[in-house]
Amino acid sequence: MHARVTPELLQRLDRPGPRYTSYPTVPAWTAAFGPADWRAALIDLASQPRREVSLYVHLPYCVKRCHYCGCNAAIPERRADVDRYLDHLERELDLVAAVVGRRKVVQMHWGGGTPNFQTDAQLRRTWSLIADRFELTGEISLECDPRAGRADQPHLLRELGFNRISLGVQDFDPRVQDAIGRRQPEQVTRRFVAACRAARFESVNLDLVYGLPHQTPAVFGESLQKVIDLAPDRLAVFGYAHVPWAKPHQAVIDPATLPSSWERFALYQQAVETLSDAGYVWIGLDHFARPGDDLAIALGERRLHRNFMGYTTRPSLDMLAVGNSAIGEVCDRFAQNATLVGAYEASVASGDLPVVKGLRLTDDDRFRRAVILHLMCNLELPWDLPAALPGRSVLDLVPGVMDQLAPLAVEGLITLDDAGLQVTALGRYFLRNVAMVFDAYLATGEHEPRYSRTV
Ligand SMILES: C[S@@+](CC[C@H](N)C(=O)[O-])C[C@H]1O[C@@H](n2cnc3c(N)ncnc32)[C@H](O)[C@@H]1O
Ligand code: SF4
Repeated sequence: MHARVTPELLQRLDRPGPRYTSYPTVPAWTAAFGPADWRAALIDLASQPRREVSLYVHLPYCVKRCHYCGCNAAIPERRADVDRYLDHLERELDLVAAVVGRRKVVQMHWGGGTPNFQTDAQLRRTWSLIADRFELTGEISLECDPRAGRADQPHLLRELGFNRISLGVQDFDPRVQDAIGRRQPEQVTRRFVAACRAARFESVNLDLVYGLPHQTPAVFGESLQKVIDLAPDRLAVFGYAHVPWAKPHQAVIDPATLPSSWERFALYQQAVETLSDAGYVWIGLDHFARPGDDLAIALGERRLHRNFMGYTTRPSLDMLAVGNSAIGEVCDRFAQNATLVGAYEASVASGDLPVVKGLRLTDDDRFRRAVILHLMCNLELPWDLPAALPGRSVLDLVPGVMDQLAPLAVEGLITLDDAGLQVTALGRYFLRNVAMVFDAYLATGEHEPRYSRTV
């Protein structure tokens, strides 16, 4: 039995909100946190040489910008721009490694942009830049655009050491693809998935997006069926974030072609139901995994974690991050690099860490982070969450929280008892709304307009 949401309930709950890949979320960070503060965090990490880390590497370049794109992507004028970018990445890696030393990296992810836009020589070089400075083991993943992939590319990526791969699909329908400026023939996706299988990746993920122009239940249903036929190990189904004030290139998408908020929600629910019926386990907000997949097993064993890369089976690790716009988290500090490639390169060239904003967490931030991330992963919250503050209750530490939770219980999104709260089958669709109750920064309303919608 699937939970039923009514248009009235949706109307009451559909408001902008964060996706909580971190807490406090990026709009609460400050430009007063700069390179010196981040260096201090790296020095703290250096004092714990055995501490394992994860590493995020941002590779921004794509062939052409898709109209709907919300990523920090860039279009190079010439191929040599990529080499120049890699020269700067090398300098940044040197700056970081000089402080933290040769670390064991147990999780690495290359995101973008389109990491596989690089030529084979550039891919090999990027890999070496990192492998020369860090000891790489564990989960090693990257994002790829099937349109940019060459037939033998998955073999090269496997040979380099990647064991997980994530491919952008979004929607198979040609009309939707035209409206989002992304022509991706079905055969191109099929061939690339087959090549990834032949190269024996441990896990192949496909990305879909709901809420795109011209998407109807019939159109999206076909895309879901095609994706199920491709049998990925994991799927991410993101809600289209239409934020033309932040991403002006999205303005070419005619808002009249976008589904209404109820239609958009129906597409989300359709994805959840279709993929669940096909045997996928719904993970957190927007991920799905086969029952035998690590993520699904970790969910069952309450070992799931969440960070800037999404859901993960690794306990919260410090995350080093390199490249433009990359976000890191080390020793209770967050930092983000300069967003635009030019500003990033100029900063690195001056010999400084390219950090433009960040935050040092207070005790209250740390406590609420543990609460929100636990909720986003495990769909429940014990009042005496040990990871938050041993011996203290969430009810004492978040003043007035019951007054805010009670209406959500009345709506049927959560159940409350003496031990804690449980998110119901209905409440799963509104997980972000439940998490928002514990967000101290939203109380001011200051950051709301910057987020996309919760469902
Ligand atoms: C860096 S891209 C993946 C790799 C490659 N660049 C591609 O597009 O195939 C990351 C993913 O973010 C999602 N995405 C991009 N823009 C989005 C938006 N405005 N709203 C929601 N999801 C978006 C897409 O599903 C996309 O596959
Ligand atoms: S969606 Fe992917 S391929 Fe398209 S512009 Fe964004 S990062 Fe590049």
